[in-house]
Amino acid sequence: MKTEFRRVALPKDLRSLVIFDRKVFRTDAFHREDWLQYESWWLLVDGVKAGCCAFEKNVGIGPDGEMVPEPGSLYVATTGILPRFQGQGLGALMKSWQLSYARRHGFGRVVGTSRESNAAMIALNERFGFRVVSKIAGYYHEPLESAVVMVWRS
Ligand SMILES: CC(C)(COP(=O)(O)OP(=O)(O)OC[C@H]1O[C@@H](n2cnc3c(N)ncnc32)[C@H](O)[C@@H]1OP(=O)(O)O)[C@@H](O)C(=O)NCCC(=O)NCCS
Repeated sequence: MKTEFRRVALPKDLRSLVIFDRKVFRTDAFHREDWLQYESWWLLVDGVKAGCCAFEKNVGIGPDGEMVPEPGSLYVATTGILPRFQGQGLGALMKSWQLSYARRHGFGRVVGTSRESNAAMIALNERFGFRVVSKIAGYYHEPLESAVVMVWRS
């Protein structure tokens, strides 16, 4: 199995990004235009788009879930593995790569949110040293749910 992280090329990849995101996140999928603000990366497995993650640099999360400028903080806007590739260690590979990316680019802090019920993502983050720092009521819709904010520090 050959794995590779490759930068998403915009706007060329926008259509496949949107289709990919709907397959992984359904009601939580981003709007088309959201992708334009992120630096996004594919995880290719034997040349197939199996995962995707997106970053925003020097950004943190404010008390109401709003994006706030925060030098040195890398915001991970999304981490997703296609359902048929889940449970094979690829989420862990992507999380490990995200932390390498953060270190290599001088970010001492990585932050992200997930649904309070997303046991898989919370467990994965905790395994890599992230801690829950706060909770934001009503952050997610369809269905309405709180977010947990998780932070990793180098
Ligand atoms: C969350 C997600 C990225 C995990 O990726 P994955 O490739 O399935 O995960 P892995 O096979 O690498 O598993 C890594 C770890 O994740 C955790 N995990 C994965 N699935 C889990 C589950 N169903 N329940 C609890 N923990 C789980 C475990 O800690 C696991 O480690 P272990 O195998 O040693 O127990 C993936 O399931 C996904 O894309 N889900 C849908 C999108 C999503 O919810 N993304 C996060 C939004 S913030």
